[in-house]
Formats: sequence, structure tokens, C-alpha cells
Amino acid sequence: MKFLVTAGPTREPIDPVRFISNRSSGKMGYAIAAAAIEAGHDVILVSGPVCIPPPPGAKLIAVNTSDEMFEAVHAHLNGIDIAVMCAAVADFKPAFFSSKKIKKSGGMENIPLVPTRDILASLAQMQKKFLIVGFAAETNDVRENALRKLRKKKCDVVIANDVSRMDTGMESDLNELTLFYSSGKTVSLPREEKNFLARKLMRFFEELQEKS
Ligand code: CTP
Repeated sequence: MKFLVTAGPTREPIDPVRFISNRSSGKMGYAIAAAAIEAGHDVILVSGPVCIPPPPGAKLIAVNTSDEMFEAVHAHLNGIDIAVMCAAVADFKPAFFSSKKIKKSGGMENIPLVPTRDILASLAQMQKKFLIVGFAAETNDVRENALRKLRKKKCDVVIANDVSRMDTGMESDLNELTLFYSSGKTVSLPREEKNFLARKLMRFFEELQEKS
């Protein structure tokens, strides 16, 4: 199979030295990319800025902003079998970018924000010939929120993870996942290392591909 995986955070610049971002480490997306390569698949890895090395064998497309990630994803959809959208894309970006460093002497009472484009949701509007897997990072009402994202973003599967705990999910080496299929099927994968979870996910992705 040919995978396109997004991973890591995006950075939305305020001025040349400041940005808005989030805690995503990229570990889950990189583990999925590594597991796909290990299973003999081709991988395009569209990644925001992270501190971990890309898995050998992946074609890395490094980006910074949500707009760059949007463009990179859309430039690499040709011929893919599955898009696994693991990145923690910023939901908002500053409405204005100051090309000069903003001086504190001028004060800054607020930063006007505008919504970013939803990359995952944009995939359903394509002439879709590939499977779409979304992630749902939730702190509460995990099932309800994941099912809403599954329908709204027209995914084949949404993989939910609880990001309310410090010992699992974002930044951690561990995760606990629940897969919500558009068919109504649900699969829970108990807490373990992201690398092992990613290998398990491969089997579900391959099965989806066989049935599609
Ligand atoms: N996503 C995306 N582009 C965005 C925002 C999110 O592609 N601009 C994708 C993520 O990669 C993930 C899924 O959408 O696969 C859900 O992301 P999440 O942050 O959990 O949800 P949001 O859509 O941002 O909704 P909310 O903030 O209400 O939880």
C-alpha cells in the first residue's frame, strides 16, 4: 500500500520569532510511518517541526505552518491508498504576520486569530480513491466527539485518543486508542507503547484496504 501520513504540530507565526503551536511530539505519526515501512508499504510523511528523526525509508516532506501542510498533502495525494491524518494541526492562526519582531514596549493586548483550513475535511471533497483515517485528540466525551468528527469529516475511520492525561497521548511514548469505523464497528486498543500500537494499526489498515 502507499501511505500518506501527517504528523507533529504546526506552527502559526506571529512575527519572525514567535508562533502559536501545541504539544504534539509527532511520536504517534512517526511510529505509524515506521510500522508501515516495516510492513513493506511506501510512506510519504508530511511532518510539522518535531525533535525525532524520520523513519528510514519514508519520504519526508517537512513543513511548518498549517497552510504549508495543506499544500504538501494535496500535492502528494496522487496514487495513495490511505491517508492517515495524525498531525495536530493548529485550528487557528494569527490574522496578521508582522515581518518585524514586535517590541514589547508597544504592548500587545490580544492577537486576532482566524481559523486554519481543515486538511482532513478537505480530503473528502476530492475525487476520493483512497481510505481516510482521522485522529481525534479529546479530553472529554471521547466517543461522542470522535463519532461527530467521523461523520463531519467523512472519514473511513477515526482513531480517538484521550489527551487529558499526562502519562498517555501527547508527548508520551504511550497511548491508548479507540477506532471508530464508518460502518459502526469500534475497536479498543489498550494502553501500550506507540510503536506497538502502530504495528497493530497496520493490520486494521490492511484489512480495510482488502475490504474496500
Ligand atoms: N485536522 C486537520 N486540519 C485541521 C485540524 C484538524 O487535518 N486544521 C485533522 C487532524 O489531523 C485530525 C483530525 O482533523 O486527524 C481531528 O483533529 P482534532 O484536533 O482532534 O479536532 P478538530 O477538528 O481540531 O476539532 P476540535 O478542536 O473541536 O476538537
